[in-house]
Amino acid sequence: RRMFYTVPKIDDLHSLGSPIENAKRAAAYRAVDENLDVFEHKVIGIGSGSTVVYVAERLGQYLKDAKFTDYVSKFTCIATGFQSKQLIMDNGLNFGVIEQNPNIDIAFDGADEVDHQLQLIKGGGACLFQEKLVSTSAEKFIVVADSSKRSPRLLGVNWRQGVPIEVVPPAYVKVKNELLSKLNAANVVLRQGGRAKAGPIVTDNNNFILDADFGEIENPKELHDKIKAMVGVVETGLFIDNAAKVYFGNSDGTVDVMV
Ligand code: 5RP
Repeated sequence: RRMFYTVPKIDDLHSLGSPIENAKRAAAYRAVDENLDVFEHKVIGIGSGSTVVYVAERLGQYLKDAKFTDYVSKFTCIATGFQSKQLIMDNGLNFGVIEQNPNIDIAFDGADEVDHQLQLIKGGGACLFQEKLVSTSAEKFIVVADSSKRSPRLLGVNWRQGVPIEVVPPAYVKVKNELLSKLNAANVVLRQGGRAKAGPIVTDNNNFILDADFGEIENPKELHDKIKAMVGVVETGLFIDNAAKVYFGNSDGTVDVMV
């Protein structure tokens, strides 16, 4: 059984002007402030996307705060992809690799959709494999999102259409055919990159992404298991029983928390 509560705006939060950016930042700042124990957490996972930008920004602020500098300067941040690595460096945080830091204390990441059971669809930024690696290696996984990401059931409508699936390139046609014929996907699209959609986008692991539309997803865990069992599938964007807490930011700076 899940619990909801709303927390007020952080005191010193000036408006950024854009309602959606205000919402994303409110969620991220609140999530860091409430969950990060600067004296205890040493290894922190940093996700990908536009909301987690504000998580890294908040950590950068902690680093400049005399109270925390000594502790925060000893943090190691684990990236989930190229953008995430840039965020860590841009905010003056230490970068580490997961091979050397396999036990992550806490990870923060965004989501494309969140249902009432805290099941997620992720992978809008094509970073789902490393995001899942980091979030499942973390003792605590905290999700930050604007409130438009909240949905009673997973529908796969917030990004492209459906569930992102990372596949090994030579297997994409086979996996696509199986998603259509065996799992009754309504549509499966090989994600194309660039403005001209000149070719398939290639992930940080040199794979492709299929976006598979299943409409409303009745049982996300069962669907994940069936997709994952297909030869050629590296990972799915269905994050099952993984998130500990979700922070949904609103444009007025308040935040709805789902536990
Ligand atoms: C990238 C992701 C992102 O976390 C997800 O797309 C949410 O991004 P944003 O915070 O920009 O809405 O899963 O693969």
